[in-house]
Amino acid sequence: MSGFNGLAIPGPTNMPFEIRQAMDVALQDHRAPDFPKFTLPIFRDLKRIFQTETGHVLVFSGSGTSCWEAALANTLSPGDHVLTSIYGQFSFLWAQMCERFGLEVEAIDVEWGEGVALDFYEQRLSADKAHAIKAVLVCHNETATGVTSDVAAVRKILDDLAHPALLMVDGVSSIGAIEFRMQKWGVDLAVAGSQKGFMMPTGLGIIGVSQKALEASKSAKLPRSFFEFSKMIEMNADGYFPYTPAVTLLHGLRASIDMMLAEGLDNIHARHHRLATGVRRAVKAWDLTLCAKDPALYSDTVSAVVVPDGMDANDVIKQAYSRYNLSLGGGLSKVAGKLFRIGHLGYLNELMVLSALGGAEMAMLDSGIKIEPGAGLAAAVDYYRASGERSA
Ligand SMILES: Cc1ncc(COP(=O)(O)O)c(C=O)c1O
Repeated sequence: MSGFNGLAIPGPTNMPFEIRQAMDVALQDHRAPDFPKFTLPIFRDLKRIFQTETGHVLVFSGSGTSCWEAALANTLSPGDHVLTSIYGQFSFLWAQMCERFGLEVEAIDVEWGEGVALDFYEQRLSADKAHAIKAVLVCHNETATGVTSDVAAVRKILDDLAHPALLMVDGVSSIGAIEFRMQKWGVDLAVAGSQKGFMMPTGLGIIGVSQKALEASKSAKLPRSFFEFSKMIEMNADGYFPYTPAVTLLHGLRASIDMMLAEGLDNIHARHHRLATGVRRAVKAWDLTLCAKDPALYSDTVSAVVVPDGMDANDVIKQAYSRYNLSLGGGLSKVAGKLFRIGHLGYLNELMVLSALGGAEMAMLDSGIKIEPGAGLAAAVDYYRASGERSA
């Protein structure tokens, strides 16, 4: 098929030419004396993206999942209690990883489309007078359902109760795209990957680590080797890594950070909000609903669109890909076939979103879903035209 593939999944996202070009470099000596000139500013600037002054941001070769593991393995011991809420495939998978690590998982199953279970957290943490719960997990942006949860509210519960549990946050589909304040929200472990807000290829797991998490790592007994924080921090201090880093990807990361800082985090968040609002207007005009139950939960990076009963969302995805060269995200696990997802994060503008909306309309019509042709597109077009400049 000629023309570009429309990449409207919630990661990997579209890669800017600047990042692609920045990675077209000769391989280099990662132990060279001038290597730190390249790496130290990256470590410094990542702290601006994560919004932490006191924490460290570490870069591992891996993906978001690797940093889930890094967070757990560095700070917890076998049998430690962790508290979590499951409201989508990614919160489920992180909880499953906790079990595989021999942790005692206390999880509440929340209806998919809802967010983190604040009441349950409050109730369990206030009953936990002995402070047996060592970590509280939150998936900030549940990519499977298009739900953004309130991390600051979880922090407040912990603070109000003076509960010392570590706050671990999955920011894989939020960091670098929507508001994420590691230090202000008291996040102890903040997990990200390179292929979403960072607009890069998959391959880097990026994790913010607070001083409190580092302190916990001193007595944590879970085995770790590759992901050992202390060795990484020690070597990073001089601009090096304990083992061979993905230098080519680090060049992409440099370009990615430069683009993000040039646009400004607030402007990036505003752009994502505006583009997402256009998508939501389209969904409303199609007379369809989002999986997210409440506007306060709507994600600005991904929208999960529920198809009418009796219709097959997988067919929409199939039609979109095979007829129009458009990649939409599928429904995962218990929502498979019930919804399709439009990713709207990273390197994106109105026209790219309109192309995804147009493709989604055609694919839905091909699948027999009764929407009015052009209705969603018109709603998004009207919104984008009326809401003026892209940047805040
Ligand atoms: C919220 C969330 N967490 C974790 C992951 C897993 O990350 P990765 O696929 O980079 O390992 C994903 C992947 O899409 C995600 O969306």
